[in-house]
Parts: sequence; C-alpha cells; structure tokens
Amino acid sequence: MDKFVIRGGNPLLGTVRVSGAKNAALPAMAAALLTEEPVILENVPQVRDIETTRKLLSSMGAEVELGYGRAQHRTTICCRNLARPEASYELVKTMRASTLVLGSLVARCGRARVSLPGGCAIGARPIDLHIKGLERLGAHITQEHGYVEANASRLRGAEVVFDKITVTGTEDVLMAATLADGETIMQNCAREPEVADLADLLNKMGANIEGAGTSTIRVKGVSKLNGARHRICPDRIEAGTFILAAALTGGDLNVSGCEPHHLDALLHKLTEVGVKTAHNGDSVRVLGSGDLKASDVVTEEYPGFPTDMQAQYMALATQAEGTSIITENIFENRFMHALELVRMGANIKMEGRRAIVRGKTPLSAAAVLASDLRASASLVLAALVADGETIIDRVYHIDRGYEHIEEKLRGVGAQIRRIGEMLPKKVAAPLVRA
Ligand code: UD1
Repeated sequence: MDKFVIRGGNPLLGTVRVSGAKNAALPAMAAALLTEEPVILENVPQVRDIETTRKLLSSMGAEVELGYGRAQHRTTICCRNLARPEASYELVKTMRASTLVLGSLVARCGRARVSLPGGCAIGARPIDLHIKGLERLGAHITQEHGYVEANASRLRGAEVVFDKITVTGTEDVLMAATLADGETIMQNCAREPEVADLADLLNKMGANIEGAGTSTIRVKGVSKLNGARHRICPDRIEAGTFILAAALTGGDLNVSGCEPHHLDALLHKLTEVGVKTAHNGDSVRVLGSGDLKASDVVTEEYPGFPTDMQAQYMALATQAEGTSIITENIFENRFMHALELVRMGANIKMEGRRAIVRGKTPLSAAAVLASDLRASASLVLAALVADGETIIDRVYHIDRGYEHIEEKLRGVGAQIRRIGEMLPKKVAAPLVRA
C-alpha cells in the first residue's frame, strides 16, 4: 500500500494547475448511459474514482475509452448496448457515487439493479431521497439482498420535493427526469456548481432543463437524448486545498485553471483568517503571511462553506492564533482526521458535531493514517508545516479524488514523495486505455 513521506517547512511558491472536478465528472459519466450515441468528456481528472466508474460502465456493456498522451483527460463513452443495467456491491462499496447510475439506468433501460451503499467512514449516507424522487417519477422500487431494484416502463414527470438537500440525489433524479414523459419540477435541489455542470451537459445532449444551480429545477422530458461533447468544470475542492496549503505554509501561490466564484465562501473565510487572496480570470493568487487568526466555520450546502473543505480547514486552524470552532452540519462523523492531527501536536476537542481547535500549537511529524479522501488531504497539509518527516499511510484514499497531488505539490516546492508498491506512474497506468 502506498504511503506519502513529507518533510515540512517549505512555503509553496509558483503556480499549480487545477484539474477537472471529480464530482462533476462522475455524474457526467453516468449521464452517458442516457443515450446510444457517444458522449465525449474533456478535462476528466485521472483519479481512481474515474477508473472505478469506467469499470462500472464497462461491466454494463458500455464502451469507455480513456484518452492518452496529450488527450489524457478526454473520455469517450458509448452506451449503445447495455446488456446488464446493474451496479454490483463490489464496485459500490469502493465508491458510493456508483449509485448515481440508478436514475439514468431506469430512465434508459426501464430497469436498474444497484447495490445499497451501506455505511462509510463519514456517516450513514443513505439513498432514501434518491429512491423517493424516482418513485415520484413512477419507478417501482424494491429492496432485496442488499440491492435496490427499480422498474418503470416509462417514467412520468412529477413534482419532486427533496426533504433534505442532496447533491447526488438531485443529480440522480435530474438525469431520470430528462427522459420522463412531461414536466418535472424539482424543489429544494442542491445548488452545487457540479449540478449546474451536469445540467449543462444534459442540455447539450438535447435535454430541456432550466434552473440548475438554483433550488428549483424544471425539466421538460424528451423522448431521446443524443451524444455531445462537454468540458468538465474545474475542481473547486482541489483548488481550495491548494489555496489552504499556500495559506498554511506562508507561501505565494497562483492556483490556476479554477473558477474563483465557486470558491467564494472559502476566500471570504480566508480574509477573516488574515490571508490575502486576489483573483484574476481563472486564477487565484494566495499570499500567506504566516500570521493566521482563528475563525469559526460552519459547513453548509453550496454556496456555504463546503464539508469537503472542513478537514483541510482544520489543519489550517491548528496554526491560527486563538480558538476556532468548526461545526460539521452535513455529515455526522466527519472528524476522523482530528485524532490524527492531535497525534501531530494539535489541540482539538470534539463535542458532537463541533471540533474546538486551540492554536497555535507546533506540529511535529508522526506516522498517521488517512481515513477518507478529504481527511487525507488535511494530513498532507499538516505535514507541510510539521517539524520533521511525516509518513501518511493508506494514500489510496487521496488517489480517489486528487490527481497526482504529490507531483503538483512538489512542483511548487513541497518535499513530498510516494513510497510503496505502486509508483505514481503505475497509478495512472490503468487509466491510459480502456
Ligand atoms: C456529494 C459529494 C461529496 C460531498 C457531499 C456534500 C459527489 C460524488 N459527492 O456527496 O463529495 O461531501 O455531496 O457536499 O458529488 N442524505 C440522506 N438521504 C439521501 C441522500 C443524502 O439522508 O438519500 C444525507 C446524507 O447522509 C448527508 C446529506 O444528506 O447527511 C448530504 O448528502 P449528499 O449531498 O447526498 O452527499 P453525496 O451526494 O453523497
């Protein structure tokens, strides 16, 4: 199993480029199931979750071609023949977003069989809201042997009101509604940029969607969708991680290829913390002063402060003067990284959904364990300012969602290397061709 070895102390200097958003690429790949024609996606990040989705689509009979060389971020998917509209437990257990295929499969094939995801490191994460939404569209849904089975000869447009805001739930029902008879009005939808990016792709495929990116989405169903070419939006969480890394190390970093507007909540928070940022076109420049002030954070749905940045912010808070209270509102168990940060010298107390971080305490290198994707990023950030050489185990979590993070960080001055059975090139190798 791979590990990262990181020696702290270097400020991040120079320019780092952001990849396409994993959380936009995953639903985009699921959207390809809605048509017989090829869907060409550009700016797809080379991360493990994309490879898992490729396997998932291929297992159903789809042809998935991942680009190579200069076109390494292009993925072409053709779902002309879908022999087996099924997502097995083996795949869903490694990537919960596999449940995103439920809506598109039932809309296209009239049936779908998808494993229930079960619990994960950050909480229960049920899919009841996906199921309820699809039932509103007329799908008949049963659960047996750990699988959800959905059947519908034809979906019907309906009003769907989500009891709680869900990102992939919104995307799942949205995809299904594109091929339903009549109009669907979805209320209390997730407003994340990745939902808008998916709607953008679906509209290029011939769907009729209005309002994506707001809490009400209207979809006029069409009988058939066509192929399309689409560029995946930049990864705001990867961009935010680099921005925090620069702030934490007192660096001067240009984070390029991002959409600064998607980072508003984070950039606003950084002003309170005492970090100067400026944006110009698709770049954000971060000027860390090494003098950070504590500030509280509450995670919320977009456009609020993202739960996917909470762990990385906690690493920053350990180096800010004063007490920062971090409240996690989205997931019930998303503080696994806190215990590892404490092992590195942080002063953090947990009280239910709140973590109280008292700073600043010097961090010292230790052997630590990555527990989930964003928790791993938090440990990388802490290691960049720790005294000595930190070893982070189980970095396969970080490979799920960050494209070659060690190469990108090394390019801007970090001392980080990967050790283990699998070298970085080999991580990329299965992605080269389907
Ligand atoms: C997506 C993101 C993930 C991010 C999360 C919250 C993808 C692939 N993943 O995950 O990175 O951390 O949004 O921004 O885009 N819930 C239910 N029932 C449901 C669905 C969700 O109770 O049917 C609850 C969840 O347990 C959670 C909350 O709703 O407490 C929000 O979850 P949701 O927005 O669905 O997260 P994901 O879409 O799984």
